[in-house]
Amino acid sequence: MKTKGIILAGGAGSRMFPVSTIYSKQLIMVYDKPMIYYPLSTLMLGGIKDILIITNSITIPFLKKLLKDGTHLGIKISYEIQDKPEGIAQSLIIGSEFIDNEQIVLILGDNIFYGSYDFLRNAIKNNKGATIFGYYVSNPERYGVIQFENNKTISIIEKPKVSKSHYAVPGLYIYDETCSRVASELKPSDRGEFEITDVNNVYLKQNRLNVIKLGRGFAWLDTGTPSSLMDASNFIETMEKRQSLKIGCIEEIAYNMKYIDKNSLKSLIKSYPTCSYKNYIEKLLM
Ligand code: G1P
Repeated sequence: MKTKGIILAGGAGSRMFPVSTIYSKQLIMVYDKPMIYYPLSTLMLGGIKDILIITNSITIPFLKKLLKDGTHLGIKISYEIQDKPEGIAQSLIIGSEFIDNEQIVLILGDNIFYGSYDFLRNAIKNNKGATIFGYYVSNPERYGVIQFENNKTISIIEKPKVSKSHYAVPGLYIYDETCSRVASELKPSDRGEFEITDVNNVYLKQNRLNVIKLGRGFAWLDTGTPSSLMDASNFIETMEKRQSLKIGCIEEIAYNMKYIDKNSLKSLIKSYPTCSYKNYIEKLLM
C-alpha cells in the first residue's frame, strides 16, 4: 500500500508570541536549519515521497520558496491552507482529497525525532487502523497521555491535570484511509479544537489502535516553547559537532535514500551560496 505524509505546520503558536504574529514557528531555526526540515526528514526517512504541508496563508509563500514542489529532493510536496488553528485533527479533513483513501503518516511541524528509523518503517508496514507512539517524559501533562492497565492501553487523555502515566504521545501518527471520516465526525473540545487525541480514542474504541513504546535510546523533542526550542537547538548542535554529521539535512537524506542521483545533487549544490551547509553537502560527493 502507498503511504503519504502530512506535515501540520499550523497552530496559533501563542506560546511563541511575539514571533507568531509574523509567521508560523516552523520557519524558525533549530540550530542550523529551519524547524520544518526535521519533520520533513522524518517522513523522508520513513520512505514517504508524497507529502502535503498544511499551514496558514501567511506562511505558505515562505514555505513554497523554501521547499518548492519537492522535485529537487526527488519527492512531491503540495500545500493546503489552515487559516484558523482549529486543531490537529482538522488536518485530516483539510487533507482528505490528498489522502484519497490511502494510508497516511501525520507529523506535527514542531516535533523532532532522532534515532534509528526502523520503528517508523516497520510501523508503517504493519499498520492496521492507527498506530501511535508512547514516549516516556518528565512532564506528561503538557501532552496527550496514554493510560495503561496491565500494559494494555485503556485511554488517551489530552493534557490531564494529573497524569497517571509518563507516556506522552508524540506528534507522529499513522492512520488508515478511514481517518478523514473519523475526524469529520468529531466535536470540538472545550478549548475549541478538533483534538487528535479524540481521533486516537475512536480508533482505540474500535479496537484498531496500535500503541508502540519508543525505547530509551531514542530522542523525541518538541519545540513548542522558547525553552524547549533552545533545548532542541542545543541537542542538535551537540550531536552535529560531536559527529560532524548533520541531523535533518534533507539533501543528504534525499541522496542516501536514492530519491535523487549524483547529478541532481551536484546541480543542487551549484545553486547554493558559499556556506557551511553547502560544504557539508559537497562532502557527500567525495
Ligand atoms: C499536541 C497534541 C498532543 C501531543 C502533542 C505532541 O499538543 O494535542 O496530544 O502529545 O501535540 O507535540 P499541542 O502541543 O498542540 O498542545
